[in-house]
Amino acid sequence: MIEYKVNAKLSADQFIDVLNRSTLGQRRPVEDRACMEAMVKNANLCVTAWDGGKLVGVARSLTDFHYACYMPDLAVDEAYQRSGIGTALIAHTQKQLGPRCKIRLIAAPAAVDYYPKIGFVKNPQCWELPRDKEVGR
Ligand SMILES: CC(C)(COP(=O)(O)OP(=O)(O)OC[C@H]1O[C@@H](n2cnc3c(N)ncnc32)[C@H](O)[C@@H]1OP(=O)(O)O)[C@@H](O)C(=O)NCCC(=O)NCCS
Repeated sequence: MIEYKVNAKLSADQFIDVLNRSTLGQRRPVEDRACMEAMVKNANLCVTAWDGGKLVGVARSLTDFHYACYMPDLAVDEAYQRSGIGTALIAHTQKQLGPRCKIRLIAAPAAVDYYPKIGFVKNPQCWELPRDKEVGR
């Protein structure tokens, strides 16, 4: 029986550990302690999945709750994948959002076929500014 919690207390160590157990840790700066602590501290909507006392999944988002919700991290412990937890984490996130609010994210290569399967729509108009690129050039 998996329990879902909204904005439960979560330490940087717990967050890093579940990212590593999901494989997403390979694509996140888990060795940069300050960055990982800030990711946990400054996210304002974080849904977690628990098997008893064990953290088995996380959906970390930044949102205004009414118009936009960016979900940088969705991760499920490998031992628990493909049992509905990822979809449930997104559903619990969506429940916290108003009727106009869209969830946006960038798929990791291993998950490009996941999002269309669960109802996400591809947006070819999405743009990002790399940190080493000066805006205006
Ligand atoms: C991608 C991830 C979050 C999905 O969570 P999950 O709990 O395993 O997925 P669900 O159980 O909700 O899957 C729902 C459906 O999608 C399928 N699915 C799951 N992962 C998939 C993937 N990577 N690619 C394609 N389909 C996938 C499931 O088989 C299931 O289909 P079914 O209903 O026909 O059986 C999880 O596998 C994960 O943490 N992966 C590693 C980290 C990662 O890539 N995260 C995404 C960052 S953008």
